[in-house]
Amino acid sequence: MQVVDAKKIQKVVVLGTGGTIAGTAASAADHTSYSAGQLGVQQLMDAVPGLDAVLQGGLLVCEQVAQLDSKDMDHATWQALALRCVHWLEQADVGGIVIAHGTDTLEETAWLLQMLLHAHKPVVLTCAMRPATALAPDGPQNLLDAMAVVCDPMARGVLAVCAGRIHSARDVQKVHPYRLDAFSSGEAGPRGWVEQGHVRWSDPGAWPVAHAHAHLALQLPAAGWPWVEVLFSHAGADARQVRALVAAGVKGLVVAGTGNGTVHQSLMSALVEAQDQGVGVRLTSRCAEGQVVGQPDLQMSPRGLNAFKARVSLMLDLMGQG
Ligand code: SIN
Repeated sequence: MQVVDAKKIQKVVVLGTGGTIAGTAASAADHTSYSAGQLGVQQLMDAVPGLDAVLQGGLLVCEQVAQLDSKDMDHATWQALALRCVHWLEQADVGGIVIAHGTDTLEETAWLLQMLLHAHKPVVLTCAMRPATALAPDGPQNLLDAMAVVCDPMARGVLAVCAGRIHSARDVQKVHPYRLDAFSSGEAGPRGWVEQGHVRWSDPGAWPVAHAHAHLALQLPAAGWPWVEVLFSHAGADARQVRALVAAGVKGLVVAGTGNGTVHQSLMSALVEAQDQGVGVRLTSRCAEGQVVGQPDLQMSPRGLNAFKARVSLMLDLMGQG
């Protein structure tokens, strides 16, 4: 068995973006009628007990990058966040980054960062399902667990930590609207667990590879990122939505097909037309697990990504195409 020395961390950076983890409600009993993104990231970290033991003399730096409800995440905020990650990861004394994020689009941000960062150091997104004012908030424990992962010598790349489980950016998906353990890695399973401050890996994972157009996403004004939409195939699906989007100038379409990537015939003919007109079209599946198998008529999204991560990847594929 390989024995790994504890990593001596000089500095960990915590970036705040808002979310329920920074949310407040009028009553401690209220878990749903609260305002997300109210408390600053320094305030959040001040409420986490036991940080010194995890950091072992390392320094904590807090920076507020945004303060929003992640349902409202936009490309400009994504770019600003990615640029701050690039900045901090380049500092030799920074061991890794924790990002406090809302749960609603966490999986999309995780995938974008995985595609943009040459992150040989860990970048760990964490979150909460209850606001900071709840009787028993989950944010402080998730932040402490995220910090334990960043400080672990085997941690690298973009990860998500919630309710004691470590997920890869590739597989993490929000699967529950309310319970504390709201994330799953589907049939891939979690990458590991945090138990009483100790990290146990099921698989520490390979070195992450950034997208070939990562530099464009960091340089181009976010308003100029290609317009890519997500569509679903379903009973009664109507081709007019595709034609309306193409007429309005959409550059890419991700379609979540039924089952093994099958698409309603009406939608399919409009998608093939769109593809022939130069619109990038990618196919994924509405199924929560597995990936499309075989040779469908439309180009498949890479590595069986869900529709929302496939949107991020297609946007990057289309960058720099004018
Ligand atoms: C958000 O995504 O910002 C709000 C919901 C949450 O964090 O659980």
